[in-house]
Amino acid sequence: MNSTNVLLLHKNNMESRIYLFCASTSFPYFAMSFSTRLMLPSDGDEVAELIFNSLNVWHEKNRGFKLVPGTWEILRIFPRVYEALDPNCCVTVVDTETNRIAGACFFHPRSTHTSLGILAVHPDFFGKRAGSMLVKYIADFTDRRNQPLRLVSGATNIDSFSLYSKFGFVPECFYQDVAVAMYHPVEVNAPDGTEIRDATPDDVPAIAALERRITGLDREKDYRFFLENTDKIWHTSVMTSSAGIIGVMASVCDPGSNMLGPGVAQTEEQAAALIRHELNAYHLHRPVVLIPSAAIKLRQALYDIGGKNCDLHISQVRQPGGKQAASGRPCFPPSSGLVFPTFMPESG
Ligand SMILES: CC(C)(COP(=O)(O)OP(=O)(O)OC[C@H]1O[C@@H](n2cnc3c(N)ncnc32)[C@H](O)[C@@H]1OP(=O)(O)O)[C@@H](O)C(=O)NCCC(=O)NCCS
Repeated sequence: MNSTNVLLLHKNNMESRIYLFCASTSFPYFAMSFSTRLMLPSDGDEVAELIFNSLNVWHEKNRGFKLVPGTWEILRIFPRVYEALDPNCCVTVVDTETNRIAGACFFHPRSTHTSLGILAVHPDFFGKRAGSMLVKYIADFTDRRNQPLRLVSGATNIDSFSLYSKFGFVPECFYQDVAVAMYHPVEVNAPDGTEIRDATPDDVPAIAALERRITGLDREKDYRFFLENTDKIWHTSVMTSSAGIIGVMASVCDPGSNMLGPGVAQTEEQAAALIRHELNAYHLHRPVVLIPSAAIKLRQALYDIGGKNCDLHISQVRQPGGKQAASGRPCFPPSSGLVFPTFMPESG
């Protein structure tokens, strides 16, 4: 294949169709057509298997290792959790000749923004603009809502970075992913005047208000979901002081994902204590937490308990229309605190 031209033949809000006319050595031209549609409940396993193959083939090719261990069933967590949290919020690109799903992307609309993720294209369709169709669908969705679109992308993944850059995303904060092997509990050392405890559903309004103060983002629905904890995979800690709730850290523990976040804290010392408290819920596990790389004291606190860097990520924002923000959130440090994103659920 030595050249590709794209002709957009049909588009409306629910479906768009793209035809790729590719020159090849054996056939002068052949046509491949894609259409977008929302994921159906019956697509769940195909999407989980696609994500598994996409991540593992991409990582093996570009970084020499498979990202996800075991078999694809481990990633049923994505359709299962995301359909419960945000039903009908997964767009797929389908090869219209075969009805195969070529790519899928979940999105999470909230009152202040929408988050994008996870995005994956099946390796058989890499480079054929399926990823572009998925991002475009969600960018159009947020443009209609006049909202920022947010995500966390791999800092070592030039393919996804380039795709997001093409659609107007701008890096906001650089994160390092720190894994901590929890062979034994660690000292929490809550700062003077603060306490840390497990959160309860009654805490949700105060947690949501805190996050709004620190980030300007509304994630009340997510915290309510974690604390209802129907599938028993979530845990959430809060830090309190005489001022009420001043920090929060959620986490997930499932064969498909064991990581801390989302969370917010006001200072690095408070964040370190919250993280240590949350880590203590995972004896004999190796959870991962994304910390802002500029938080020097915090990262040292994690190194002190055996934390190892295992990846790098960047939070990115696309303003409506793909335009630069006139007054978007600043890069780290945000004026009023620290932000801890996660991929489950995507909370850039
Ligand atoms: C990242 C991923 C989704 C990209 O999907 P894709 O369908 O292969 O991407 P597309 O073909 O739609 O387009 C990629 C675009 O980026 C551009 N691009 C790629 N590399 C580039 C580079 N180094 N510099 C500039 N642009 C680049 C391409 O030219 C293309 O734009 P164009 O159509 O205007 O030419 C796919 O590689 C994937 O699934 N990877 C594994 C899973 C993953 O990484 N998910 C993202 C998690 S953060």
